[in-house]
Amino acid sequence: MKRKQCLFFLIVVLTQAAFAQSPAQQRSDRLGLGMNLSYLDNWWKGSKEKHFSDFAKPEEAAKREKAFFEIAKAGFKTVRIPICFSAWMQLKRPYDWENPKSLEMADLFVKWALANKLNVIVDLHHTEFDGSIPEAANAERIVNLWLRIAERYKNTDPEKVFFELRNEPHDMPAETWRWQAEQIIKVVRDIAPKHTLIVGFHDWNSRQAMLDSQPFADKNIIYTFHYYDPFLFTHQGSTWSGVEGIQEIKFLPFPFVKEKNPKVPQIAQGKWVEKLIGSYSDDSKAEKMFKDLKAAKDWSEKNKVPIFVGEFGSFAETATPDDRCRHAKVVYSALGKLRIPNAWWEWDGGFTMFKSGSSEISDCMRVAIDSYSKQN
Ligand code: BGC
Repeated sequence: MKRKQCLFFLIVVLTQAAFAQSPAQQRSDRLGLGMNLSYLDNWWKGSKEKHFSDFAKPEEAAKREKAFFEIAKAGFKTVRIPICFSAWMQLKRPYDWENPKSLEMADLFVKWALANKLNVIVDLHHTEFDGSIPEAANAERIVNLWLRIAERYKNTDPEKVFFELRNEPHDMPAETWRWQAEQIIKVVRDIAPKHTLIVGFHDWNSRQAMLDSQPFADKNIIYTFHYYDPFLFTHQGSTWSGVEGIQEIKFLPFPFVKEKNPKVPQIAQGKWVEKLIGSYSDDSKAEKMFKDLKAAKDWSEKNKVPIFVGEFGSFAETATPDDRCRHAKVVYSALGKLRIPNAWWEWDGGFTMFKSGSSEISDCMRVAIDSYSKQN
């Protein structure tokens, strides 16, 4: 090679190296619009004596196959599958799978996602159930869960299959979760060196917990948080969240309408819900929500790591479709503008985007979803 050619070649290589993106960044760019598909997380359908291991039925799981097709057809690129693997593993050492047959349902979900050309996130969900089985979520057991999950899926395509370490770790200090996550990362890395991990932080994968934290040493990680703001709107009427008074909030408009702002329910006096009612006029402003998400994006840029909103959405039972669409549009357009990949919670079930009584995405939800790509 002549000197000039050599120099040119060197410049090209150096430029490429300078702008080369990490596998985590490249893969996160491909996640785009995503959807959560529940069923394998429904531990509460099982019996407590069997530590919920009987919660999922193969014949019911089989009915989910067409959902993967529909999700892909609706334009989603990624499916996040919340899976309660914890129900299928022994509570005590040696932590063997107790229900190996049940795991085949998880294998099928992954297979159906890939068959529809979707990226798939294997998400370890609800390890702790309702907290009533203390040993369920001890760190040693969770590390063992990952040892077996990683072993099971290590031969899947790392360009398409992602491992999410733990959904919404809570009731533990930041350092406890960090230590636990580090143990899990070590175990998974030894078994599946090329897969991208998805990791959130303590306090229910909150955005603030992420902003308060530092990335881990491993470079092949996408960081996740859940965005259910304003909580008063997205979780109004919810019975499962355990937040005092929220169950009594119904048909709260989005955004704030002065005449329709609710009275503080008796049970919520002096509690979080009272505060949320007081700040709803500000919390439901599009600019405030954009600012929230922008702060997450700033964190990602500052730390040079990709991020992903693993859950957002609103409970359909006690909010009007128009209010839900307005809320969805604010979040989707902000995520689009900021280029943050995401997954709506959830395809069907309580937070669905479907028109009431149908299995079709409503027109105004479609507009909301499309506002994501319009901003790109
Ligand atoms: C939980 C669901 C819940 C949703 C919204 C998810 O992480 O698994 O049970 O409906 O959050 O609260």
